[in-house]
Parts: sequence; C-alpha cells; structure tokens
Amino acid sequence: MRFCLNVDHIATLRNARGENQPDPVTVALIAEQSGVDGIVVHLREDRRHINERDLRLLRELVTTKLDLEMAAVPDIINIACDVLPELATIVPEKRLELTTEGGLNVIDNIEQISSAIKQLHAAGIAVSLFIEPDINQINAAAEIQADLIELHTGHYANAATEDEQLDELERVRLAARHAKKLGLGVNAGHGLDYQNIKQFIEVQDIDEVSIGHAVIARAVMVGIKEAVDEMKRILRRV
Ligand code: PXP
Repeated sequence: MRFCLNVDHIATLRNARGENQPDPVTVALIAEQSGVDGIVVHLREDRRHINERDLRLLRELVTTKLDLEMAAVPDIINIACDVLPELATIVPEKRLELTTEGGLNVIDNIEQISSAIKQLHAAGIAVSLFIEPDINQINAAAEIQADLIELHTGHYANAATEDEQLDELERVRLAARHAKKLGLGVNAGHGLDYQNIKQFIEVQDIDEVSIGHAVIARAVMVGIKEAVDEMKRILRRV
C-alpha cells in the first residue's frame, strides 16, 4: 500500500502566526526524502491552509507525485490546469467544516463533476473522486470516466465500537473490490492513524492511503524532545 502525506496542517500552523515557519514545502521535501510516495495538499477556496505560493513551489520541487485535493469549481479547476499536479482529487467543500466531512455525492452532481473531469483530463491530469464506500457512487464515478476513487475512511476511523468498525471495514473492502473490477484505481483516506491502519492494511485492492493529521501530530510528539534539547544547548552556550 503506497503512502501519500497530506501537509495541509503544517500550513495551518504557519498561518496561525502569519509568518513563514513551518514551511509546508520544506516539510514535503523532507517527507519525500524519508520515503513517502506522494504529497497531498488541499487548496481550499478560503485558502485556510495551503496557498497558491505553496502549490506552485510544490509543483516545481515535488518529485514523487503531487495530489491536489480540490472542489469542482471554475477558479480552482483553472489553477489546477495551470499547475498540473499528477493527480486531482475532487472533494466536496463546505466553508464552515473543520475538515472534509464526507464523500462527494457524484450521482446528484454528475454534470458538474463530469465537466470538471473533462477539463482536468484535457490538461493531462488524472482525476480521483473522494467518495463513500457505496456501490452506486462508485458506478457513477466509473461512468463519468474518473481514473481513480478515494474511499472515505472516516466512518471506519470514527466507529464507536469494534463491531461497527468491522462493519465499516467490510464496506470498504467490498467497495474497493467492486471499483477494481470496474478498472478504477483505489485510494483511501481520512482519519487513518497509527492504530486503525493496522487492520486497514489487510484490505485488498487499495493501492494507496492519504494520511495527514495523525502523521503531522506524531511528528510533533517525536520531535519535541530534540527541539527542546537544541534550545537548551544554545541557552547553555554549548
Ligand atoms: N483524503 C481526503 C480527501 C481529505 O480531505 C483528507 C483531509 O484533508 C485526508 C485524506 C486526510 O485525512 P487526515 O488528515 O484525517 O489523515
């Protein structure tokens, strides 16, 4: 299973002070050197984390794969067609949500999404649709020529009981198998962490996971000791 890292939260931290650090572009490059298979960013309409400067620099510097999460709206489609990420992942976007809250409703928005896919394909960009593990949504994605789907794993990750989690995992497993039979590539993401990934890797037919929050949070935990030690050394003039 390939692993792509979402670095949006590095930009969230940078933006909290309106300064330049930490830079999501630098973090993306370190992550690449550490072995990730790709970098994911979500250019939101409200630019709450990643901005166009980040996106354009990432496009110049990322050598693995750049996956741009985006809403299927004209302004962002135009930017994508100019920047040319290897992959555009179309997601639903609501202004007040804290993070992407669920999969796209491809069936109800088929015209808009199909038109976005055509424009992105014309620019040579592969397109993934972020959807629930639902057979009808998968069929609709295949019908409008999506190259891949990304299965929303939020219900699996947030399941309240073990039984519910197993049910959700089974939904993902069946959805992935169905999508593969239709010739779609299958990615997955949202809420995956160091615990729930252990069962998740048993699911066949998933090519790649996209993980952000858990890995960025873990980076703080494993990095804090070194950061404190470094400051202490300077203060002790050693
Ligand atoms: N995939 C998609 C489509 C997302 O919107 C997000 C959140 O930005 C992720 C994956 C990563 O989710 P998390 O930050 O919970 O790992």
